[in-house]
Amino acid sequence: MCRLIRFGLIALLLTALTLPLAHSLDKQPAGVYHARRVALAAKLHGGVAILFAAQEPVLDFMPYRQDEDFYYLTGWTDPGAALLIASDDAQAASPRTYGEILFLPTRNLRLEKYSGIKPDAATPGAAKTAGVDAVQPMAQLPVVLNRLIGEANRGLSGNLWAQPAAPEAKALLQFNGATFGSSSMPPARDVTSMIAQLRVVKDAGEIELLRKASDASIAGQRAMMKAVKPGVTERTVAGKMTAAWFEAGCERPSYAPIVGSGINSTILHYGENSRTIEDGDIVVVDAACEYSMYAADITRTVPANGRFTERQREIYNIVLASQQAAIDAFVSGKSKINDRDRKDPDSLDNAAYNYINTHGKDLHGQPLGQYWLHGLGHIVGINVHDPAEYPAVLKPGMVFTIEPGVYIPEEKLGVRIECTFLVGEDGKLIDLTAALPHTAEEVEAAMQGK
Ligand code: GLY
Ligand code: MN
Repeated sequence: MCRLIRFGLIALLLTALTLPLAHSLDKQPAGVYHARRVALAAKLHGGVAILFAAQEPVLDFMPYRQDEDFYYLTGWTDPGAALLIASDDAQAASPRTYGEILFLPTRNLRLEKYSGIKPDAATPGAAKTAGVDAVQPMAQLPVVLNRLIGEANRGLSGNLWAQPAAPEAKALLQFNGATFGSSSMPPARDVTSMIAQLRVVKDAGEIELLRKASDASIAGQRAMMKAVKPGVTERTVAGKMTAAWFEAGCERPSYAPIVGSGINSTILHYGENSRTIEDGDIVVVDAACEYSMYAADITRTVPANGRFTERQREIYNIVLASQQAAIDAFVSGKSKINDRDRKDPDSLDNAAYNYINTHGKDLHGQPLGQYWLHGLGHIVGINVHDPAEYPAVLKPGMVFTIEPGVYIPEEKLGVRIECTFLVGEDGKLIDLTAALPHTAEEVEAAMQGK
């Protein structure tokens, strides 16, 4: 081989091994993820947390999506990794201070023909690229854990934190018991509940991503308002929205799009999207996208032919006004969301429900409260239904939906209006869907391209 070619090959190899991680997502600065790991450590009572990346999807058409907690703590987007966080433990036999290691699988040169190059712990600069204090080969994980437990005089065995649903965690703990000659280990504590406490209040970078998800979803909803017409299928409408999301830089929908026309408007999570929209239908469109792992959640209800009937408009106005009643009742730090039983006087669900139940009637002269079938809203974040303890007290930095609905199958008439709100630093609500039509008249105007 001539020197030039050899030099070229070596240069290519070095470049490939030191490439920054190729990813298509907007990431937050490495220090943000690090600070989250430190914050988690402070909740572990001297324990050690081990988290595993999501496994690859079984179905070929499903793209890989990182485990949400793993992503929140690392921004890492590849499968096969594990994260260990050791909190300070002054009581340990060998007192310990904070430590973190990202464990990476050994490179698989054959699989890389399919997946592209994946860095491993031996890749130059891997820790810096990953933004963690240290990387090690995955094979070292049981070794490191064995050492930590040994150094803590085995008191640590009952203070290990892991994802309850991760099969790797169960296998690791069982194997770890074996390293101490024991067939039983205390079960790991649930690390996801600790991370949920951190995830519930969003930082500025997360809010930026949530705004981008909402803006792209607004573009999708506007595309929907132009696409809905008698003779068009529900799936065509979902497709036009999907095109708008992808154009705006989103990687996928944040949940299966719901385009429910006619009777389907009364099915809360209708997802078949197979019907052809007919003249006179009302259409509930609950569909939004995910931008760099952060979700939006928006529902609009539109008339198939561009103009609500009198009855559709009546119900639409009641639902919209019930949303406004909840907005008016909002007090930062006091109000709660998603109290399905409506027993808590601070729950915004009460305000919306009371409005619906005291305005309008069904065909039998009965109040409409019975046709509202779900909670008023939920927290939004990396998951469209971010983990939270409900009813959740709403504070600055929290992002949540207000989504009242009335569903009357007898009239083939369902209306849901869903906006996503941020509680601002001043305690006031900021409507992330402000740029979308809200009133029936605004919806009609948008359908006429105005
Ligand atoms: N937008 C879907 C849901 O909140 O369940
Ligand atoms: Mn929702």
